[in-house]
Amino acid sequence: MLIRPAKRLRGRARVPGDKSVSHRAAILAALARGRTRVMNFSSSADCASTLACLAALGVPVEREPGAVLIDGAGRAPGAWSFAEPAGPLDCGNSGTTMRLMAGVLAAQPFAATLAGDDSLSRRPMRRVVEPLELMGARVSTREGRAPLRVEGRRPLKAVEYAAPVASAQVKSCLLLAGLGAAGRTVVREPEPTRDHTERMLGWLGAGVGGEAADGGGRVVSVEGPALFEARDIEVPGDLSSAAFLLAAAALLPGSELSVEGVGLNPTRTEILDTLRALGADVRVEPEGGRSNEPAGRVVVRGGEGLRPRPGASVVGGRAVARLIDELPVLAVVGAHAEGGLEIRDAAELRVKESDRISAVVSNLRAMGARVEELEDGLRVEGGRRLSGARLDSFGDHRIAMAFAVAALAARGESFIEGAEACVGVSFPEFFPLLESVAER
Ligand code: S3P
Repeated sequence: MLIRPAKRLRGRARVPGDKSVSHRAAILAALARGRTRVMNFSSSADCASTLACLAALGVPVEREPGAVLIDGAGRAPGAWSFAEPAGPLDCGNSGTTMRLMAGVLAAQPFAATLAGDDSLSRRPMRRVVEPLELMGARVSTREGRAPLRVEGRRPLKAVEYAAPVASAQVKSCLLLAGLGAAGRTVVREPEPTRDHTERMLGWLGAGVGGEAADGGGRVVSVEGPALFEARDIEVPGDLSSAAFLLAAAALLPGSELSVEGVGLNPTRTEILDTLRALGADVRVEPEGGRSNEPAGRVVVRGGEGLRPRPGASVVGGRAVARLIDELPVLAVVGAHAEGGLEIRDAAELRVKESDRISAVVSNLRAMGARVEELEDGLRVEGGRRLSGARLDSFGDHRIAMAFAVAALAARGESFIEGAEACVGVSFPEFFPLLESVAER
């Protein structure tokens, strides 16, 4: 993908439905009793993988313009009418599909295999295997990686589990398994992570609880065996997709970009606070919720230069779990901010769709930035204009989009290898949408 620099971004944009919320909507609709219409379902390939896995389990899934209709398999508390699949369930590139579906399969009276592409087959799965085995399922892996063969058990044992990693996928996997357990399944997370599963379980009237825990984490729980009725769900726009457009507007002086109908769940909005702390003009106008998820409009105006507030040049600690998918584009913004940016406590980035620390460092260096790679993050010097370069997407959608943003703000053209092929994983409309608001 060839990208020419832009002067500014102007206009209004809508981004597709939130990917995290759409995965959960599809899965909880499949677990419910009755028919769910999910409106503004994500157009991402990842969410299509979740729908395909559900269809392979015998769940009727129909597409309508702008919506998906799902006939739930809920029959009795902790009992679903899923069919044993004929072959492996293909999760594609989607870690969320694999980890959440592992929780669903753990509570079924048959065995099924979850497989994925090369990138997904390199990612760590022990984080879900260990707790699911404590609950009584049997899960075999290839040295802790996919394919996962999940032998379910009905009912599962309800357990109390302290997750060693701050991961919404691990938490959600266990809450979904907990719907098929006898009693209350409790998950302690070391840092609060995105809470879409809890919110949607609440929307559906399932017995879910959550409270702050000592040391800054959270304890969430669900009561099983559960049965809940279908209820329509409207998905807000994906703030993690909007983040690329918003970051580009913050970098290009004279920009004024408004993104409407976007999710504003507080476990996801850290990117807006961080952009503001780095000196960007970011305004938020709440619009009222969508199926228990806050949403609204975000407006970014690009000024001359980003001057961070004192202390804003280091991002780490608790902020990281709430900002995890935005860190690549934040590093790009940091390369333009006065004094640069340091990202710490973010070793999880190394086990995403690519090793995102090394991918960001290598592309920033190719553009002439001075960057130091750290085990758990990076340090980039700021204040200099990047140069257009030949860049690599590393087959990772968020790396491709982060560097499309860098390329817009650079001097000279850039070429991003493999970008077109991978952005569809989360945001197929990205390049046309970017072009529609870019002025040259
Ligand atoms: C997600 C959780 C995060 C995030 C991913 C989506 C989710 O992963 O990076 O893109 O929908 O639960 P982890 O839970 O592994 O941190």
